[in-house]
Amino acid sequence: MPASMIRIDELRHEVDALVDQTSSAQELMRAMAKLLHNRMLKYNWVGFYMLEPGAQPPMLALGAFEGAMTPHTRIPLNEGICGAAASSGETVVVDDVNKDPRYLACSLETKSEIVVPIFVHGKVVGELDIDSHFPAAFTAEHQEFVQHCANLVGKKLEAASA
Ligand code: SME
Repeated sequence: MPASMIRIDELRHEVDALVDQTSSAQELMRAMAKLLHNRMLKYNWVGFYMLEPGAQPPMLALGAFEGAMTPHTRIPLNEGICGAAASSGETVVVDDVNKDPRYLACSLETKSEIVVPIFVHGKVVGELDIDSHFPAAFTAEHQEFVQHCANLVGKKLEAASA
């Protein structure tokens, strides 16, 4: 088994435990960003963008994050990898950000990126965005893991809105 899979398996338990250790979705997102950023060598910027309630046109606003400050604190849905993921409701993985014309640069060091939508009652409410200094960092195992993380946040938000 590749070392990266062992690490993902170990980290999955810690991420799952955060759900019960936190008392709100906000707190979960803060703790999750910190854990993923601290423990994964290739997760060099980890953050959440959430749809601003009622904004017209729809707008993603930067929420909890770990890593260098980004110039992109608000992103319209027709811009960036972030806008593409939120507007399609699909995970977007970019192995080489410099070859993707949609990419909005956050750091010159970023080589690859994954953005996973977060759903509440079947609707996109935000997304989990991770940037890596390594090219093609987000293999299928990572994609599945980051989707799991985003689902946990969606479930916690859903529980709060029930
Ligand atoms: N790269 C993103 C913008 C957000 S920063 O990576 C934090 C994009 O292209 O949408």
